Amino acid sequence: MKLTKYLANLGYGSRRDVGRMLDDERVTRRDGIVLAEGDACAHDDILVDGEPLDPPPGAVVMLHKPIGYVCTTKDADRLVYELLPPRYRERSPIVAPVGRLDRDTSGLLLLTDDGQLNHRLTSPRTHLPKVYVVQLANDLRGDERELFASGTMMLESEPDPLAPAALEILDARHVRLTLTEGRYHQARRMFAATGNHVESLHRVRVGGLELGDLPSGMWRLLDAADVARLQATSSPSAP
Ligand code: URA
Repeated sequence: MKLTKYLANLGYGSRRDVGRMLDDERVTRRDGIVLAEGDACAHDDILVDGEPLDPPPGAVVMLHKPIGYVCTTKDADRLVYELLPPRYRERSPIVAPVGRLDRDTSGLLLLTDDGQLNHRLTSPRTHLPKVYVVQLANDLRGDERELFASGTMMLESEPDPLAPAALEILDARHVRLTLTEGRYHQARRMFAATGNHVESLHRVRVGGLELGDLPSGMWRLLDAADVARLQATSSPSAP
């Protein structure tokens, strides 16, 4: 791929913008040689304005999403993209959320420009476990663990029962809930169906990957070991 297109795809501007950057000798190799449009060069050897490039295609980002941010590219609310380097939103393909968290949900949100990985992680057939810490408005009524685990629980206006979900009771109003699906407002609707109300919802784990001590509003790139960990506990069902 030509350097102009490569850098444009990484969000450095339109092809015309990048062409100008090349003309202005802002794109160099690490040894200082100025690069031109047709030059072939390894990603890690390219500098723009003396700075290493953003991560190559296939980047996976973990964001600690705060409450109040939405996972879309346009909205009246604050966008998760405001918490990431602006170029990530300009990349082609865009660094897109892997599934979504509601505006009022906090915690581990993954984003990637790897469409195949995104599809694999969000496919209902992958059954990737997602763990939420939930604070409830009212005491549990007592049968939630059995109901959620049953595989027969129905949500209003949904044609299929929910897959079994694991509930670990921490105390009467605090639980850890493990979902393997990503239905709309699923955790909130499950508790609403039991007459309860979710006060706060925080995702702490996706697959084998923990949010850990990443501060709220901060992000980090995943390395190959993280991505392996992420997928470690997924168990694709037979086709
Ligand atoms: N369930 C919800 O209700 N909201 C989320 O953001 C995730 C799971």
